Amino acid sequence: MKKTVLVSGGAGFIGSHVTVELIEAGYDVVVADNFSNCDRTGYEGVKKITGRDDLPLEIVDFCDMAQVKALFAKYPIDAVIHFAAYKAVGESVAKPVMYYKNNLMSFLNVLEAAQDKGGCNVLFSSSATVYGEPEAVPVTEKTPRQPATSPYGNTKTMCEDILRDTVKASGGAVKGILLRYFNPIGAHPSALIGELPRGVPNNLVPYITQTAIGKRECLSIFGNDYPTPDGTCLRDYIDIVDLAKAHVFAVTRMMDGKMKENCEVFNIGTGRPLSVLELVTAFEKVNNLKLNYRFAPRRAGDVTAIWADPTLANTEMGWKATRSIEETLKAAWAWEKHLAGK
Ligand code: UD1
Repeated sequence: MKKTVLVSGGAGFIGSHVTVELIEAGYDVVVADNFSNCDRTGYEGVKKITGRDDLPLEIVDFCDMAQVKALFAKYPIDAVIHFAAYKAVGESVAKPVMYYKNNLMSFLNVLEAAQDKGGCNVLFSSSATVYGEPEAVPVTEKTPRQPATSPYGNTKTMCEDILRDTVKASGGAVKGILLRYFNPIGAHPSALIGELPRGVPNNLVPYITQTAIGKRECLSIFGNDYPTPDGTCLRDYIDIVDLAKAHVFAVTRMMDGKMKENCEVFNIGTGRPLSVLELVTAFEKVNNLKLNYRFAPRRAGDVTAIWADPTLANTEMGWKATRSIEETLKAAWAWEKHLAGK
């Protein structure tokens, strides 16, 4: 019997890529989204890539328990992957109530529905942001979390704790995996799905591709006076398809009863630090173009250097990032060109 995975926020950047990988691995997927922060491009792209024209789509506001209940009543859900959340750091500082309300309420409703059905496998999309400015790099899952520097980051930390407590109280009927993503970038090799930020991008790679295509005039590199080899920040950029595949490993681990604890946490990164300048240079090289960029002051709240020790995900889950930065940056550029109709 095929197992069913509910993907909340399944039409978004990460959700759409995860949906493709789950379908290709043989799962039935229910995509649920309220399209508050994306249009239908991701959902339509997934259908094209997978040839699944009948892919179920439910327009659901996860903050509304009645809608969540109806969803759980309609499908035989074996696992939930929860992405439905707001994700802009700056906006969360300006609108904390909106962020706490949306990101906490939607997850609480998922957990309540999981409890009500007598148990479920729940995978939560956490972030390296929970490590703050780490004292030592790379970070392992045992690296202490730091107080969050934004309401967005705080919702990640809080949801981690909420899932842990729920799993514990359920006596293992609810099982949880927390995946802490580093910096997801790139796009599907088909160029049919990718990142579609609304307005001016906050994240580096969409800003780079939009500058290259001419939508933005100039990329600002925030800070070149950090204590790093070239003065720019170090991050662990993880290909979106590699990251999506990690979800298949995690869900299968839960379904197959392979978990060592009822709530587990894994870093999802490459283990390879790259500076902002290295990333920009690699983008120029692999795509054979010149990018208009300048050095600008540091951005408030940025950490100097963070990258993953992904050993646990490699050895325990059997997942490993395989795509090169060249492939990833080519895919990001192909996606931007696809959007521009080029
Ligand atoms: C950011 C969030 C993080 C969130 C993640 C989700 C902050 C402080 N952190 O991570 O909480 O989980 O996005 O994707 O916002 N950069 C530039 N110019 C730009 C944009 C970025 O130089 O126009 C630099 C940044 O200073 C940073 C690096 O590029 O050093 C990566 O930035 P970004 O893509 O925004 O990711 P993070 O800040 O690491």
